[in-house]
Parts: sequence; C-alpha cells; structure tokens
Amino acid sequence: MKIDTAEFLKSAFEESHWLKERYPEVSFLGRSNVGKSSLINSLLGRKKLARTSNTPGRTQSINFFLVNRSFCFVDLPGYGYAKVPKKIKADWGKMAEDYLANRRQLVLSIQIVDVRHKPSVLDQELYNWLSYHHKKSLVVATKADKLSNNKLRKSIDLISQCMPESEVLPYSSVTGKGKEAVWQQIGNALQIGND
Ligand code: GTP
Ligand code: MG
Repeated sequence: MKIDTAEFLKSAFEESHWLKERYPEVSFLGRSNVGKSSLINSLLGRKKLARTSNTPGRTQSINFFLVNRSFCFVDLPGYGYAKVPKKIKADWGKMAEDYLANRRQLVLSIQIVDVRHKPSVLDQELYNWLSYHHKKSLVVATKADKLSNNKLRKSIDLISQCMPESEVLPYSSVTGKGKEAVWQQIGNALQIGND
C-alpha cells in the first residue's frame, strides 16, 4: 500500500467525541504495551504519528488517524495493565466494547499479541468476544524480531491453536517484517487493491 497521507485526527475519551465522518475504520486492539501504536507507525511508515512508550497504559483514549484521506486507523486503549485504578479500568473496557459492538464503519479489528507468549486470559476473552460477535478480525503477533525463526514458527502455531478462526501473522515493528501480509489483509477488508 502506498501511503500518500497519514494524519492524526483526534483523541476521544467518550463516545460523543468519536469521529463523525464515515470513513471505513480498522481498529488496533491488544494488551497494554504490546505494541499497538508501534504497529500503526510501522504500517504507515511514520515514526511518531501514534505515541509509543515504555510505560504501559500510554494510550488511554481512542485515537483516530486518517490514511490517504480515505480510511481510518483507530488505536484503542490497551487492556490488562494491573496498576490502573479499577474505575479507569472499567471505563476503558466499556469504551472499547461500545466501540467494537456499535461502530458500523468498522471493517476489520487487528488484535495484537506478543509473539513470545501464549495469549493471556484477556487476549483470549477478547478474541472469543470478537469471534462470537462475528467481527472480522486478524491476529498480528508482534515483536517477532525477538525470536529465532524456529521459535517463531512454534509460537505462531501455538497462537493459531488458541485463535483458530483467524489468520495469525508474525510482525516486527523494528524490522518491518510482515508488513506486506498485514497490508494485504487490510486491503481486502477495505476492498481496495494493493500496490
Ligand atoms: P499502550 O498504548 O500503553 O497500550 O501500548 P502499545 O500497545 O501502544 O505499545 P507501544 O507501541 O507503545 O510499544 C510498547 C513498547 O514495545 C515500546 O517500548 C516499543 O518500542 C516496543 N515495541 C513495540 N513493537 C515492537 C517490536 O515489533 N519489536 C520490538 N523489539 N519492540 C517493540
Ligand atoms: Mg499505544
């Protein structure tokens, strides 16, 4: 995919602030600190469009990015970070679930997991929820640069067993490995050709 423009549009802390325009949207979901924002930057070839950090829980709002003036990437808050107060945790979960359940222009949800670990209970719950609600989803197993090829293959197999209905693609935001395959899936969901 050739990226002509990529712009940050807005951060929303509540539903009334979600983007009003009806662009098709691709959402990015996953545990806090798993690499959602890095994946967005890597796919778009922009270093700092989505803010990344070593501190888990960096992205607390729903962030909308407009790509090629034709579709949006939506960075959702991460889940599963223990140190966040209960009230905030509940708000996050509710906001993400409301978005996933109700957003009509959502064409694909990309669930990001850490390729080095078996999906956590929360990863599995989210996956099952998406699957139960017939949401079109793709699993991206990131941080692939941290494993040897042999270990990588084994990990992808294990993740695929836990998430059997989806394609599981290895990725590295450091090396760009997997970029073409992920764009292919995004292009399919958006029904636009890849070049
Ligand atoms: P929250 O917004 O807090 O939920 O985190 P996030 O999921 O957006 O993660 P973020 O992209 O901020 O990345 C978290 C940390 O992981 C950062 O230190 C990144 O540099 C690192 N990271 C992300 N992707 C990769 C990757 O593919 N390989 C390696 N080695 N590190 C990565
Ligand atoms: Mg983030």
